[in-house]
Amino acid sequence: MSRRVYLDHNASTPVHPDVVAAMLPYFQERFGNPSSVHTFGREARDGMEVARGRMSDFLRVSKEEIVFTSGGTESDNLAVKGVALARGGGHIVTSQIEHHAVLRACQFLEGQGFEVTYLPVDGDGLVSPDDVRRAIRPDTILVTIMHANSEVGTIQPVEAIGPMVRERGIPFHVDAVQTFGKVPVDLARFGIDLLSFSSHKIYGPKGVAGLYIRKGTKMVAVQHGGEHERRRRAGTENVAGIVGFGRAVEIRGREMEAEAARLTGLRHRFWAGVSASVPEVRLNGHPTRRLPGTLNMCFRHVESESVVLGLDLKGVAVSAGSACTSGSVEPSYVLVAMGVPVDWAMGSVRASLGRGTTEADIDYVLEVLSPLVRRIRELSPASVA
Ligand SMILES: Cc1ncc(COP(=O)(O)O)c(C=O)c1O
Repeated sequence: MSRRVYLDHNASTPVHPDVVAAMLPYFQERFGNPSSVHTFGREARDGMEVARGRMSDFLRVSKEEIVFTSGGTESDNLAVKGVALARGGGHIVTSQIEHHAVLRACQFLEGQGFEVTYLPVDGDGLVSPDDVRRAIRPDTILVTIMHANSEVGTIQPVEAIGPMVRERGIPFHVDAVQTFGKVPVDLARFGIDLLSFSSHKIYGPKGVAGLYIRKGTKMVAVQHGGEHERRRRAGTENVAGIVGFGRAVEIRGREMEAEAARLTGLRHRFWAGVSASVPEVRLNGHPTRRLPGTLNMCFRHVESESVVLGLDLKGVAVSAGSACTSGSVEPSYVLVAMGVPVDWAMGSVRASLGRGTTEADIDYVLEVLSPLVRRIRELSPASVA
């Protein structure tokens, strides 16, 4: 079989075999509804509560502060809308480079009469804590800033933002979908009231995630129905998914530190190889405050899709930083917010490394990447101009 190299771990990860094994009984003999009082129900509930305990141990919070949801998207919606709708009106502070789950929830709230400040970022993709402080008004009801951006990997100074927001008595939400289980998140020190985290980015199954809600945070449910999750999120829980997520978190607890160091080394090897072999390439994101395994680069006068498709033909999976909307290719809103010139931003490619990535994988990609970019440039009218 020809070589296959998966470098798109920020999009999703392969489910760890131990996670699959932990989940299987919950599709079969322990299939009960966790709300049922009989033995079948209790078995399902027990599995779910063990998983909740693993989350709370990992985050060093209490079990009652963890709500299971259907994904990072739902966790973000529940946090942002749940806090906002509990107040009924007011002002929200966020950044221009949040995930769409936060941005579009904020836009929805604007339609309901809330006001939102979308803070800019600097050239490295950092939100300035001073900008957050200046944006806060007497009627500010929520500050929501992501921990790390999925595209460029820049890690925000939440440790400086959180305590300052808490001092003013305003709830602070952090979308940690890309950092949870990859880099440490200290909820108490960072002054975080709500934290979104998702399973399928850390070798767990898709369609399950969590939201930490600090005890005493005033919020309402967004999805209504039964009494599940202490009335904060109605709907029969995805028990097998939650059990798998719990196992995935337990594994990350053991592997996270060593894996972060290993991926940082691989990322350096990758970037050193690219910058030595490909002309007119730039690195996007902060040089040091970044996710260990995320490398985002721009190839000037190259369309990212050509690189993604060309690498795919060689068995390599990476992702493009630009989005194709209604036939026209737009540069990434994250790179635009960072001030990356359009002729560079159109050629952005993200490689996100993970557990299975080896040195041999990186060396193989380096071998095929430079001739590919050269060929694309030879065929591109822009590079001739
Ligand atoms: C920063 C961030 N927030 C939220 C999400 C959405 O998570 P999910 O795919 O679990 O809905 C993602 C997914 O890529 C993400 O990167």
